[in-house]
Amino acid sequence: MIHTEAIEKAKDHFAKLLQEQLLRVDQIKAGDTWVDYSKLHPLIIGVVGGDGIGPYITEQAVRVLRYILADEIAAGLVELRDIPGLDIESRVKVMKALPEDVLAALKECHVILKGPLTTPKKGDRWPNLESANVSMRRELDLFANVRPVKVPEKGIDWIFYRENTEGEYVLGSKGYNVTDDLAVDFKVITTPGAERIVRLAFEYAKKNGIKKVSAVTKANVIKATDGKFLETARRVAKEYPDIVFDDWFVDIMAAKLVDEKRRKDFKVIVLPNLYGDILTDEAAEFQGGVGTAGSANIGKRYAMFEAIHGSAPRMVEEGRAIYADPASMMRASVMLLRHIGFVSHAARMEKALDICGQLERKVVLTGRSDGATGAQFADYVLRTLQDLKP
Ligand code: IPM
Ligand code: MG
Repeated sequence: MIHTEAIEKAKDHFAKLLQEQLLRVDQIKAGDTWVDYSKLHPLIIGVVGGDGIGPYITEQAVRVLRYILADEIAAGLVELRDIPGLDIESRVKVMKALPEDVLAALKECHVILKGPLTTPKKGDRWPNLESANVSMRRELDLFANVRPVKVPEKGIDWIFYRENTEGEYVLGSKGYNVTDDLAVDFKVITTPGAERIVRLAFEYAKKNGIKKVSAVTKANVIKATDGKFLETARRVAKEYPDIVFDDWFVDIMAAKLVDEKRRKDFKVIVLPNLYGDILTDEAAEFQGGVGTAGSANIGKRYAMFEAIHGSAPRMVEEGRAIYADPASMMRASVMLLRHIGFVSHAARMEKALDICGQLERKVVLTGRSDGATGAQFADYVLRTLQDLKP
């Protein structure tokens, strides 16, 4: 049977998507300029608690942020602003991944600290809305997802530059069931989209005296899109002759990250969206799990900082939310402070987190009642901060 009608409909669907994507290419090319945070008074930090354990761990991170920023807040230079309406119940009420009024409120902030949000998936109790994370990254054009992973005693010091607005994600909710038996999703890589993330990774390496950047693709199989990403990376790499560039396929990279001899060689790793999603969870595991990792979502106008893990609804159902580890949100706060130029505040908070989470560990969370609560951990961080000279 030739499904002429179904194919025609699919073509229309595809045509619309192509138009949207070509428009996006033009927008990237037209380009925003990077915002200068030192000129913003007050600088507004939006706070989104999120779902599940999100509000619990966000609250603890905000306590520490308020302490660190006390002078700036008192002087009216910085404002911490709660942004409600992104919890899953509110999103479902208006059937929008990112309700318009919330998006408008987010756009009034300069940077955002965000707890994890429930991502509905087929078959669970929520309507199958697009992920609010994915939607926010796209709407605010947060094209770089920067995820550091450090385990000093194992010689691991990686920073992942994950492309955040393209790949399998950008049309992840716009795939198409051509017939009952045929489903198609789309992967998108654009030249300016690949170029801006690769360039950011190289610029980071250059600024920090790092001599190596590695790209990760599956260009041997996914030839058009990953091929474009790799080709773009190779082209940009030529502009940085002092930095060694190499490239890996994602499967062998997943293996090499566990290879104790080889993994120390990796430094800056730049990769398309989905590979970045997967490898950064793997990488965070070496550092003590996804609960310990923060993540920066950076665009030229906006930036959002979050934990890399999910909302852990089971912890809430089992009454364990107060035992959730707020370290990820505190690490995200460190990245936020550094991004907006409060470099010494960031260094001080990071030092306190290293002491509390790795070096000293006087208060230990287990996620259960045999361990400390998030609030007790935050108290410990606050006490540690008091002893650390600003
Ligand atoms: C992450 C998360 C998200 C992603 C989910 C929640 C949509 O896993 O930030 O890595 O896949 O990007
Ligand atoms: Mg992930």
